[in-house]
Amino acid sequence: MSQNNSQLAALIDLSPSVAEFRASVWAGLAQHQKTIPAKFFYDREGSRLFEEICLTPEYYPTRTEKKLLADVVSEIAGLAGPGRAVLEFGSGAGVKTRALLDRLDAPAAYVPVEISRARLVEVTSELAADYPKIQIAPVCADYTKPFNLPSVAMGVAHWLGFFPGSTIGNFTPPQAVQFLSQVRRMLGTTGLMLIGVDLRKDIAVLNAAYNDAAGVTADFNLNLLTRINRELDGDFDLSQFGHSAFYEPEQGRIEMHLISRRAQSVNVAGRAFDFAADETIHTENSYKYDVDQFRCLAASAGWSHRAVWTDSDRLFSLHLLACE
Ligand code: TRP
Repeated sequence: MSQNNSQLAALIDLSPSVAEFRASVWAGLAQHQKTIPAKFFYDREGSRLFEEICLTPEYYPTRTEKKLLADVVSEIAGLAGPGRAVLEFGSGAGVKTRALLDRLDAPAAYVPVEISRARLVEVTSELAADYPKIQIAPVCADYTKPFNLPSVAMGVAHWLGFFPGSTIGNFTPPQAVQFLSQVRRMLGTTGLMLIGVDLRKDIAVLNAAYNDAAGVTADFNLNLLTRINRELDGDFDLSQFGHSAFYEPEQGRIEMHLISRRAQSVNVAGRAFDFAADETIHTENSYKYDVDQFRCLAASAGWSHRAVWTDSDRLFSLHLLACE
């Protein structure tokens, strides 16, 4: 992991503060349907558990998207042309990043934006060692809010936004439109955006993907309570909450909840919150889109369609969008 000869810029740290975490949890637990924003899943252990979810046999999106990307990345590189800088939202373990950087024609820079600082630092130092010719400028931030690009961005003529993992599905459709509009402004008129989107499909396949038999997704969901206990002086009894995830066909989304096994009261940073038996905290949505549905959504954020690829089982899609 030597950084000799690499072009790794200092991390820009805009990660949410403990005060922001506390305010979000207090506000979310005070609502009629209790809720906590999904971005708080990703502490160090949360990122590790998420990477483990991606390896479970039931969770088809990661391996399907990786294979699809490998199959079409040369075509993408041809459409992108030379010298693009890559701006990735939620870079995680950086596996798909490598597939892209390996094939793009002389990428000018790589700017990963990731909320998990610990993972971002590790992954960018490995990438810097392996891609010494590419300027890497990591930003630790919640990308659902506007943020400034690092100084390396000043010289960038052409951007390629990269948003894999069907994370776009973790926004509600209006939030997704807002996010895509914000990104379109950031990337400028020549910008392209490559987005991975999970497709609608057989409900049993969807339900299994979010209820893996080994219980990794359940651990991931419950880790949010462990994080609250540690960082916000909470007293959630983890044995008294369970994992619940199910497909909701009307909205076309997986909903994930933490369900209280009994009536109980929980303290977080000095405030008490009451739970009825079976009451839930809504922790995540994962919307699924047909190709045309997603195209419409992107169009309402001003993006035009450039290309779309799906795997032969039609599980997952990769959309290439253009600003103009
Ligand atoms: N973007 C991923 C998805 O919607 C995130 C994800 C996968 C996830 N499994 C999860 C989020 C389990 C929370 C819990 O599929």
